[in-house]
Amino acid sequence: MASIASSVDEVKGKVALLTGAASGIGRAVAELLYARGAKVVAEDIDPAVKELERDGLISLTADVTVDGSAEKAGSACRRQVWHPRHPRE
Ligand SMILES: NC(=O)c1ccc[n+]([C@@H]2O[C@H](COP(=O)([O-])OP(=O)(O)OC[C@H]3O[C@@H](n4cnc5c(N)ncnc54)[C@H](O)[C@@H]3O)[C@@H](O)[C@H]2O)c1
Repeated sequence: MASIASSVDEVKGKVALLTGAASGIGRAVAELLYARGAKVVAEDIDPAVKELERDGLISLTADVTVDGSAEKAGSACRRQVWHPRHPRE
């Protein structure tokens, strides 16, 4: 069985949305996918998620249980695709 994101080519240039990304498993997976070349949207209710920000990785402070949060996360993903400040291939 293939492991998650087992090669750079699997995720490079793709956009990954991680919830619960300020700590623990979510943070580790966000950093792994970023390291493998993905553009990442890291979402968490904890504003500490901002610490992860860098070129190609934007943070979103939001509660995933609140109505409208999925739409905001979708908008952030679209910004990752189009934003000139996040030019990862
Ligand atoms: N760590 C383990 O070994 C392990 C093992 C089995 C299951 N789990 C489960 O996996 C999940 C994640 O574990 P973890 O160790 O990464 O936990 P964690 O507490 O380190 O991370 C969870 C993150 O989710 C965020 N969060 C909580 N509610 C949120 C909300 N409504 N909206 C947005 N973000 C929210 C928190 O702020 C936190 O940053 C938990 O449900 C845990 O019970 C963990």
